Amino acid sequence: MPKKRKKYKLKKKDNVVKEFQEKYIISPSNGSKRYIDETWDFRKENTKEYTHCFHAYPAMMIPQIARRIIATYGKKAKLLFDPYCGTGTSLVEANIVDIDAIGTDLNPLARLIAETKTTSLNIQTLDLYLKDFTDKVFAFRFGKRDIHSIVLPDFKNIDFWFSKTIQRQLALIKKYIEKISDVPIQNFFKVAFSETIRECSYTKNGEFKLVRMTEDRIKKFKPDVLGIIEYKLSRNRNGLISYLKTKKNGAFARIHQFNSVEGIPKNIFLLEGNADIVVTSPPYGDSRTTVAYGQFSRLANQWLDYSGASQVDNILMGGVRNGVNYHFKSSALNETIEKINKQDENRCKDVTSFFYDYQKSIANVSSVLKHGGHACYVVGNRTVKGVNIPMDEITKQIFQENDLKHIETIIRNIPNKRMPLENSPTNVTGEKSTTMRNEFIVVCQKK
Ligand SMILES: C[S@@+](CC[C@H](N)C(=O)[O-])C[C@H]1O[C@@H](n2cnc3c(N)ncnc32)[C@H](O)[C@@H]1O
Repeated sequence: MPKKRKKYKLKKKDNVVKEFQEKYIISPSNGSKRYIDETWDFRKENTKEYTHCFHAYPAMMIPQIARRIIATYGKKAKLLFDPYCGTGTSLVEANIVDIDAIGTDLNPLARLIAETKTTSLNIQTLDLYLKDFTDKVFAFRFGKRDIHSIVLPDFKNIDFWFSKTIQRQLALIKKYIEKISDVPIQNFFKVAFSETIRECSYTKNGEFKLVRMTEDRIKKFKPDVLGIIEYKLSRNRNGLISYLKTKKNGAFARIHQFNSVEGIPKNIFLLEGNADIVVTSPPYGDSRTTVAYGQFSRLANQWLDYSGASQVDNILMGGVRNGVNYHFKSSALNETIEKINKQDENRCKDVTSFFYDYQKSIANVSSVLKHGGHACYVVGNRTVKGVNIPMDEITKQIFQENDLKHIETIIRNIPNKRMPLENSPTNVTGEKSTTMRNEFIVVCQKK
């Protein structure tokens, strides 16, 4: 007897998606400059080739997108700028095709990763350090070294996130890394160390926010700290080798600690002149209520002694409440703000603060772009209090106010971007709603 097929019941979540698609994607008013193109989905592609395998990070851009944007709009480009470079996906892709790159980010961990992913190390030198490290690990595993006396770092809540045994092993690795005098090699070890820290902490798997495992899970949790870092070092070494084989010689990447909401200092661009192309994926909301880059990075930032490690989310875009009651240059944004305000005045202040910063940062970015250069923003729309925020339309309108013309908006599905498909836009624990399943590549050109 053939099995009776279970009838698929339409869930609330499906309705939200359907409604979202009808309203914001297949809208007749979109015109031909805003279209769905599934060839940008890059469904089965390897997103971890080259140095892109180095370290996970929330809402990473997939390399294929940066690659295709550069191939389409950056054919003659000499300098690429990413004002929210995160782990440096677009910088790596620029360097591969011999384009110099400048990136800025406020998160120290992101800058460390971006810097390391774009640094060409001498593999023979690296191998000497890796061999030395493996020897030390071997001696530690099979020797009689007592590490109970090792000095442990002392930061808030360390015991909440790490057992003493793990703290000792991490401290041992930290001490080893601190002794490496070659800074680029030291950074290479730090990146592998950072991922190891996260994996050996009591944070729940698959969460970008800091959420602790259940007590039951903690009792069984015995990660092999040294094995994990050895694996990561070896994986990253392979990634680096393929990057070096592919990369043409010469192109540089410079990563700055800079708040893109503030005026971009001319000295960043002094030597090269303005940027030919901007390829970036900005945050799509403040870190507290959307993607918490700071929380994701906090434990690593603490172990690596970066100051202000627990304050990162507060300094990122929209982190400070300002610009409330502001009238924006984008009509799409003003309409959205009005709708949210009707639902929840308090929540509206968060959204307004974020866009106050966003508008300022677009003006800054526009000012360092060459005439004829392209600004390519990969953005996602989100919902707050049931109101969809059309980030792509808002981005386009703000750029138009800054002397750029809109070229096109490509709509792609997100099959492989590491994003929570659900968030809590109402900020009520347990109340969830579907977030981005589509991404928008907004391309504008400076007149
Ligand atoms: C979507 S992520 C970028 C991810 C990046 N494209 C990648 O592939 O790794 C956005 C980044 O913006 C940074 N950011 C947020 N506000 C910022 C600001 N005001 N100035 C500079 N960077 C900021 C965050 O730290 C985060 O790394």
